[in-house]
Amino acid sequence: MKTKIYDLTDKSIYDEAIKQAALAVKKGGVVVFPTETVYGIGADAFNVEAIHKIFQAKNRPLDNPLIVHFADKKDINLAASNISDNALKVSEKFMPGPITIVCHKQKNIPSCVTACLDTVAVRVPMRESARDLIRACQTPLVAPSANISGKPSPTAPEHVIEDMNGKVDVILIEGRCDVGLESTVVDFTSGEKARILRPGGVTPEQLKQIILLEDSYKPVKQLSVNETPKAPGMKYKHYKPNAKVVCLMGDEKKIVDYINNRTALENNLTAAAVFEHLKEKISCDYVFSLGNKDIPQEAGNLLFYNLRKADEVHAGIIFVMCTDYKGIGLAYHNRLEKASDEIITF
Ligand code: TXA
Ligand code: MG
Repeated sequence: MKTKIYDLTDKSIYDEAIKQAALAVKKGGVVVFPTETVYGIGADAFNVEAIHKIFQAKNRPLDNPLIVHFADKKDINLAASNISDNALKVSEKFMPGPITIVCHKQKNIPSCVTACLDTVAVRVPMRESARDLIRACQTPLVAPSANISGKPSPTAPEHVIEDMNGKVDVILIEGRCDVGLESTVVDFTSGEKARILRPGGVTPEQLKQIILLEDSYKPVKQLSVNETPKAPGMKYKHYKPNAKVVCLMGDEKKIVDYINNRTALENNLTAAAVFEHLKEKISCDYVFSLGNKDIPQEAGNLLFYNLRKADEVHAGIIFVMCTDYKGIGLAYHNRLEKASDEIITF
């Protein structure tokens, strides 16, 4: 398939690009677009044939349900029914933004969207162009992250083009994503308290200010392929680059020594993603920054980006430092843990 690629940072073609992408969606096609979290691959949420094209392009298992994206929070009841007061509170405060709420579904939502569950996930992205696109489509869009299933989610134009060029009708690029990790998925359908199914851009601390949350989010142990988890996506391998990923937690000095000692023994090209102030102490072939240690949003923004960079430079292994669990750190930790082949604590 010939994919049309438009760069939305070129304001002279912005309107035309949105129009062409919307046209492709209306014709039952599939388009890639930026959001504030990660790039998404979207199709008309009511067009079953188009939705199947997404599963094909991503090589995504059919039992992993999709998020329905709206331009405006007043429309989410087109997909969600009996929205609880707590879910409404959260949507009032954090939409548009990096949050997805799981509610009971409306009957007309196709079963391939929800993987036959009786719940549906809805989200209103913050990125202006995403909402312009949805508005122009005149229909909500289902949109998983625009990566081949199992790989790190794309947060930069070059990464989304690498995975999706030739597989979709249109790719809209617009620089780097702002958050760099996917939205927080919160379930409002089981029990009195809401439950975080996937930590993300909106933190537990922020949610707890307005609703009661099920104790704290606990990292999920890897489920076997035959088990049915609450968020079906959780059982599959996620976020893995080709390079082996080694996650390092704890004492900074010990981490630096460990990386350098192990690098000396490696035959492959090596890469490391460490906080900016440690970069010059690392002897790997490639050293990437995780930003300022005191601003965890920077590490969040750079995690997927750096995992993909490791593949770009053909590193055989990448050592990645961990943040603490506070704030966005929980989401960072969750993604890195899933991406990792080894986790070492000092
Ligand atoms: O930030 C994001 O949410 C991005 C951008 C593109 O919007 N999208 C995204 O979609 O991350 P995806 O498909 O990669 O992840 C959706 C997650 C999966 O873990 C899926 O299992 C879960 O949401 N999910 C979707 N519908 C659900 C439902 N009804 N109940 C529980 N979990 C659900
Ligand atoms: Mg994904």
